[in-house]
Amino acid sequence: MTEDFDTEDFDVGADWHVAAPYPFLARLRARAPVFRSEHLGAYVLTRHADVRAAYGDPRGLSSRGSLTISRSLTPETRRRLGEHGSFLSSFVANVDPPDHTRLRRSVSKAFTPRAVAAMEQEFRRLNEHLLDRLAPRGWADFVSEIGHEPSVKLTARFIGVPETDEAFVRSHVKDWFQLFLSPQPPQRQLELADSFLTYLDYVDGLVAARAKDPQGDFTSLMTSLIGDELTHREVVELISTILLGGNDTVPNQLGNTVLRLLREGVWPLPPALAANASEECMRIDGASLGSFRYATRDLRLHGVTIPEGDLVLLSTDSAGHDETVFPDPDRFVIDRPNAAEHLVFGYGIHFCVGAALGRLQLRTALDVLGRRLPRLRLAPGQNVAYRSSIVGRGLTSLLVEW
Ligand code: HEM
Repeated sequence: MTEDFDTEDFDVGADWHVAAPYPFLARLRARAPVFRSEHLGAYVLTRHADVRAAYGDPRGLSSRGSLTISRSLTPETRRRLGEHGSFLSSFVANVDPPDHTRLRRSVSKAFTPRAVAAMEQEFRRLNEHLLDRLAPRGWADFVSEIGHEPSVKLTARFIGVPETDEAFVRSHVKDWFQLFLSPQPPQRQLELADSFLTYLDYVDGLVAARAKDPQGDFTSLMTSLIGDELTHREVVELISTILLGGNDTVPNQLGNTVLRLLREGVWPLPPALAANASEECMRIDGASLGSFRYATRDLRLHGVTIPEGDLVLLSTDSAGHDETVFPDPDRFVIDRPNAAEHLVFGYGIHFCVGAALGRLQLRTALDVLGRRLPRLRLAPGQNVAYRSSIVGRGLTSLLVEW
């Protein structure tokens, strides 16, 4: 604790933190680069070099169980969930080598550069189709009406969810995200648990259908590896989580990016600057706030000992604003030479396997939007707010006109 700030204020759910954490994070980087947050029940790393080194040290900092924030589940909810109470325990981001090495090898088969490039046309078409419908209206809520739909549909097609089931899947994915990743009151937990079990049955059914009759989708590819490389549970968890990834991360990043570009007056984005501009937007307004790890032994850093077994947050949000790596970090610099050194996709062995697909979607959406809505602007008089979350940063709504 120092005279004008207290590291215990590190409450990622507090309104002021959600709205504007950066001056506070700057003070932490300078004076408390490692500290324990009572609020979070975790140590927090705030400097770019430390966050990167932590991602690069899977032996000292384990991913096992780091995503499963299910500690808040009541005994009754746990009973209802039965064997699924520790859902995600076999998900690729939630395990260490050697399991991770095996899982990662299998998942990567679906994300080859060729497979990713092949999705561009489909994604472009989905964006054009959406704008055909919306453009004549002249206004929209970017978050609920523009940002999500193309990504959600692309992910569903990639996985192999039939179009008629998309809405069902979308609502259940939202429920399980709430159940496992944010604390809920007991009664609500039970409702969400039922929804989650229904969803698991659905994914099970999809896997069984593809085992019998393979198609050219992710579910078929992963199902074909069951027995040799993957277990049934690993495949179900992979499919579920990738559906979630597509439903949330890319749309959040796109919303943050469009807001930034409109505020900076850079619209439409000149094609020659698009790639670097999207990296700079990810650096300055990243959709991922960081990743959790557990210390596997006592770790000593900047005079602080992180005890073995303790939870650690690698704050990529703070790392992206580290003035020693990104001069004048709170300023948007469209041609910042090292913008891509942000850690929004993580780093090291767990580096986001969907990063190329995420980047492709961002660039494609910005291209289509810039061309179809060149006069896009923020609707006047709105209060722009971010959702409260410990893992992601995304807008609640964004009213735009054109
Ligand atoms: C802008 C969009 C995205 C952001 C900001 C993002 C962020 C991240 C981060 C920070 C990690 C590392 C987690 C850790 O180290 O604990 C990660 C891993 C992962 N991401 Fe993404 N992601 C995005 C898009 C996607 C997409 C589109 C997919 C799939 C369709 C995806 C699938 C995954 C998977 C499977 C992992 C686990 C990789 C592993 O553990 O080896 N992500 N992502």
